[in-house]
Amino acid sequence: MNKTITFIGAGNMSRSLISGLIQDNTDLNIRVADPDEAQLQFIQQSWNGVATFTDNSEAIADADVIVLAVKPQIMKLVCEPLQADLRNHSPLIISIAAGVSITNINLWLGAQAMPIVRCMPNTPALVQSGMTGLFGNDQVSDDQHDLAESILRAVGSTLWLSDEDKLDAVTAVSGSGPAYYFLVMEAMQDAAQKLGLSADEARLLVLQTAFGAAKLALESEDDAGVLRQRVTSKGGTTEAALKTLIEGGLPRLFEDALKAAENRSVELKNS
Ligand SMILES: NC(=O)c1ccc[n+]([C@@H]2O[C@H](COP(=O)([O-])OP(=O)(O)OC[C@H]3O[C@@H](n4cnc5c(N)ncnc54)[C@H](OP(=O)(O)O)[C@@H]3O)[C@@H](O)[C@H]2O)c1
Repeated sequence: MNKTITFIGAGNMSRSLISGLIQDNTDLNIRVADPDEAQLQFIQQSWNGVATFTDNSEAIADADVIVLAVKPQIMKLVCEPLQADLRNHSPLIISIAAGVSITNINLWLGAQAMPIVRCMPNTPALVQSGMTGLFGNDQVSDDQHDLAESILRAVGSTLWLSDEDKLDAVTAVSGSGPAYYFLVMEAMQDAAQKLGLSADEARLLVLQTAFGAAKLALESEDDAGVLRQRVTSKGGTTEAALKTLIEGGLPRLFEDALKAAENRSVELKNS
């Protein structure tokens, strides 16, 4: 019999995961629970095979996987009422909430040792190009590990971590990372317009260059440093720009920025 997956929360992340699973021709039975009827209606209109519920308990009955996809600040409120349902039923729990530890999720779900995978996806998951860091506790079986992998792979690439604490670094690098690239795109577009290009011209040149550089780097066996040196001829235009960026402290700024994000992730987790 096909396995059943229940999403608690019908927001952006659940929708992108469902969309990815359906595009992947998943054989999972998909259920979604959310108190907001409008969100559920959107799901029904988009994918008519997906069952929707306003009651979380009803939605998780006999589910093999529960994806907790609500905001971190309401996670406790969402988990505690499920304790009675999970007393004699131990599905795989996948949490995508930033900064909520496995220990807390387990405690709020009733404290018996449950298989829990904690993930940190990022917003490009919305266009099936996400990057997700994952960590699973000792209760996660090999089959459940593979199931979690196939669910998150539906929206991009995955990286399993050996230590839950590394999720703070993942948050700093790939979780918050899209915003760093957006800032660079913004700055390059502004600079391009100062060189006399129109806004539309600047946008196309900058975005396609970002996309092409990422694709080239992903498909190359050489690392980014080698690719950079290869396009930097002595005395040329690229060298002139890179000299300005490096002497202006860009590598050091990134080091400080990622450290600040990691520190904030630890603070939020402990708050
Ligand atoms: N978006 C991202 O790029 C991203 C990246 C990494 C991690 N995450 C994590 O993913 C999680 C979900 O993010 P999101 O962007 O999908 O948030 P979202 O769009 O706000 O979705 C959360 C959904 O949960 C619903 N909800 C509220 N209370 C509920 C309850 N008691 N039972 C069931 N559903 C309930 C919300 O309904 P209402 O709107 O009516 O409150 C909303 O539809 C968050 O924990 C976030 O930290 C998101």
